[in-house]
Amino acid sequence: MKVSSVPFKGTKDQEAKLLEVIAKYKGQKGALMPIMQEAQNIYGYLPYQVQKIISDETGIPIEKIYGVATFYAQFSMSPKGKYIVAVCLGTACYVKGAGKVLEEVEAKLGIGDGECTPDGKFSLEVCRCVGACGLAPVMIVAGDVYGKMTPDRVEGILAKYE
Ligand code: FES
Repeated sequence: MKVSSVPFKGTKDQEAKLLEVIAKYKGQKGALMPIMQEAQNIYGYLPYQVQKIISDETGIPIEKIYGVATFYAQFSMSPKGKYIVAVCLGTACYVKGAGKVLEEVEAKLGIGDGECTPDGKFSLEVCRCVGACGLAPVMIVAGDVYGKMTPDRVEGILAKYE
């Protein structure tokens, strides 16, 4: 999992909620997982700054928290962008050139799988078959399906999302 370069925009309100959650579980055995789950619900993801608060308040080393955050797929250290761009790399899409489409999306957005652009606009997710193999290769932006994708269409499609 890659660490997000998106500026952290946590509010005092979110921090107060997180401190409440920590106070609720503090000292209990196995407290870390529920704290991290609730922290992710509050912030939408688990950036370093949130991990640091958890570490400072619980005394659990930050390395351990980071390890748990990277190990479990349910935790994300990148925020979700306003628009989610999904590129299907399932077999049908892959053999029809989805790899090239993905490369173009990565180049245009400057991010990789699981990351979010610094302006918070797009996040990129590589996915497996989305059940539209007849349209391969498939790219989905904010729920809109684009079939028979070619790398040269990527820029124009992304430009539609403001
Ligand atoms: S493999 Fe991409 S839609 Fe099925």
